[in-house]
Amino acid sequence: MTNKVIIDTDPGIDDAMAIYFAVQAPQIDLLGLTTVFGNIEVELATQNALRLLEHANIDLPVCKGVAMPHVGPESTYAKFVHGEDGLGNLHLPPPKTSADQRTAAEFIIEMAHKYPNEITLVPIGPLGNIALALKLEPKLPELIKSVNIMGGAAHVAGNVTPVAEANIWNDAYAAEIVFSAGWDVKMFGLDVTYATSFDPDFVDILAAKNPVLGGLVARASQFYIDFYSKREDKKVCFFHDAFPLAYIVNPDLFTLITGNIRIGTDPLHRGQTSFAPLGSTTSELWTETPPVKVATGVNHAALTQLFIDTYAR
Ligand code: BDR
Ligand code: CA
Repeated sequence: MTNKVIIDTDPGIDDAMAIYFAVQAPQIDLLGLTTVFGNIEVELATQNALRLLEHANIDLPVCKGVAMPHVGPESTYAKFVHGEDGLGNLHLPPPKTSADQRTAAEFIIEMAHKYPNEITLVPIGPLGNIALALKLEPKLPELIKSVNIMGGAAHVAGNVTPVAEANIWNDAYAAEIVFSAGWDVKMFGLDVTYATSFDPDFVDILAAKNPVLGGLVARASQFYIDFYSKREDKKVCFFHDAFPLAYIVNPDLFTLITGNIRIGTDPLHRGQTSFAPLGSTTSELWTETPPVKVATGVNHAALTQLFIDTYAR
């Protein structure tokens, strides 16, 4: 069975790795990419999404989304993680193709009406486009099958502040709208993505198995590996954004628990995903929010093999 998927993305090196995993996976029917500010400005994210699809020789809509957080000033971006160009300073040539005329939110809503209850949204950047789509089409939760989010940190520290993960921190008010919309939300946060490190030779294997797609990921990852290795005594790498897509291909690799999440929006707790497993609190501040599922475990070896096998197809 194939799963219709829209990836909402801010490419981004792990975004690139995730997009190419989706492109290669026969279980995933990718309908298009929607772009959002995050690692880089939305304009550059859109150019990069076009570049990535052109490089893969794939013709799919790329729809530009929001440039700013729901509330608050412009983002500071994460070019120190992903490079000035968002793709490890490879400085790829400008794309020849152009973005779709539809905005990201318009595309999501149009596809949701076209394929009711068939689409899994996979946001792997800040959640502004999804929040905007919910505002423009309040029936969206009835039309979307699942929302598999890369973001958040339930039981572990954040990566931008001690309590907040980057995607949620970047647009905390949007995240609160998305998490409380009453649809099937699954959160793949740092609990699993930061617990699963990859050796640098992982990207060499992807490149050997798939010189075009894996080759680009391997080249772009060198900058990213240097960033992640600064605080370690060996070279490491993380591919956060591929996790919610891997779940679609093989959910058995993951452990998920159900509970309620509140998103911090005050300056100190901005972007905190404060998680109460079901039955763990009587506080209505949590119990009155719709339940969501949170990934707390993953089979590291099997996931690594899934990535390699999928790139090798
Ligand atoms: C998330 O932040 C971005 O830097 C990555 O692309 C990923 O989506 C990890 O916290
Ligand atoms: Ca991302």
